[in-house]
Amino acid sequence: MTTPLKLAVVGAGVIGRHHARVAVQHPDLEVVALVDAIPAAATGAADELEAMGVARPITTATIEEAIAGTDIDLVAICSPSGMHVQLAEAALAAGKHVVIEKPLDTTMPRARQIAALAADARSRGLVTSVISQHRFDPASVAVAGAAHDGGFGTVTSGVASVAWYRSQGYYDSGDWRGTWELDGGGAVMNQGVHTVDLLVWALGRPEEISAQTGLLAHDRIEVEDTAVATVRFRNGALGVIHCTTAAYPGLSARYAVYGTHGSAIVDDDRLAYFHIAPDTATLESASTTANATAVAGAVDQKSDVVPPEHVVGGPTEPDHFAAGHARQYTDIVAAVREGREPGVTVDAALVSLATVRGLYVSATLGKPVRIDDVIEGVYDDVVPVVGTAIPTEGATR
Ligand SMILES: NC(=O)c1ccc[n+]([C@@H]2O[C@H](COP(=O)([O-])OP(=O)(O)OC[C@H]3O[C@@H](n4cnc5c(N)ncnc54)[C@H](O)[C@@H]3O)[C@@H](O)[C@H]2O)c1
Repeated sequence: MTTPLKLAVVGAGVIGRHHARVAVQHPDLEVVALVDAIPAAATGAADELEAMGVARPITTATIEEAIAGTDIDLVAICSPSGMHVQLAEAALAAGKHVVIEKPLDTTMPRARQIAALAADARSRGLVTSVISQHRFDPASVAVAGAAHDGGFGTVTSGVASVAWYRSQGYYDSGDWRGTWELDGGGAVMNQGVHTVDLLVWALGRPEEISAQTGLLAHDRIEVEDTAVATVRFRNGALGVIHCTTAAYPGLSARYAVYGTHGSAIVDDDRLAYFHIAPDTATLESASTTANATAVAGAVDQKSDVVPPEHVVGGPTEPDHFAAGHARQYTDIVAAVREGREPGVTVDAALVSLATVRGLYVSATLGKPVRIDDVIEGVYDDVVPVVGTAIPTEGATR
């Protein structure tokens, strides 16, 4: 029997406690340390774990104290987004494997810094992964697989839409929320980043983005609560991104991938539609006149490709939020043990972050932006604003 990896969770807030609970229930992980700048947060999380019947982890106010105080294999960075790099750097420098909550960080210079640190750490046998738990949802695994292996034929387009609702109280609940410095953005960076990441995963590397943002329904925040963008991907596919936290009562996070041989829709992490043409004869028989469905009897195959709890309308997956992180932890543990790349690398997270940052730069400058330029630092100096920085005649905001 292999010994569980010893995990330290840094940042015992909402998601850090979630990591700790997931890890306690994971056969390959043992929580040995909880770190929070606010001591009561760490001790409160430790109380919670003890009540679950496991050994009490040590609690410290800094990552350095935790590293000095106990034996640790893997560090989970669950601090506010703008603090991910400094904490990951401390863990990697101490020879620990690292998992960083999404997003990678909030700025491109820091994200590049962490990519360089992760590359250096890889040469020392250390794994660095970034949480993108929905890449492990069976529905998204099926869709990305069909997009990548040609099942959908030529992928022509995709749409990602996150139509959620966050009250003013949500933004007022933490000083860092809704700030460019520590939240890194609004509806796209904080809420939509997973769905944008899934679209990018399925459609490939984005080439150029063109966007508009608005702050339409909240006060006392710097960032957008609504954004739209169009994206041209390197393979020629075209995409649409729409994210808002002002869609009362809060609807779903949804993305669709369309191709010449098949298409799919994922709604709130479950398959809403999936179809691949069974053979070329069927493709050739496609009607030249019908609009909605070119092929008679194009059956929805969603129930054939994933278990019932991953199909819209099927039974609910027990504790779906925990299941997502648990699936990704299984991948990270395997990457550590097998000395291989994790399913979500820092480089992949860097591309998704650059897409989000590119969206903000495009909205700020009022022009299309190349993602490679964002990654290479061309726009590092752009200070994002909501709406365009270039005033237009008659603009009120
Ligand atoms: N994967 C997901 O679905 C998901 C969901 C929610 C949040 N997140 C991400 O998780 C991160 C944290 O979000 P949250 O909602 O838990 O925030 P939170 O404010 O509830 O918790 C953050 C905690 O970090 C602590 N902290 C701050 N600086 C620290 C430091 N230097 N060392 C140790 N602890 C420190 C704070 O005291 C706080 O307790 C963010 O990056 C967020 O984007 C991911």
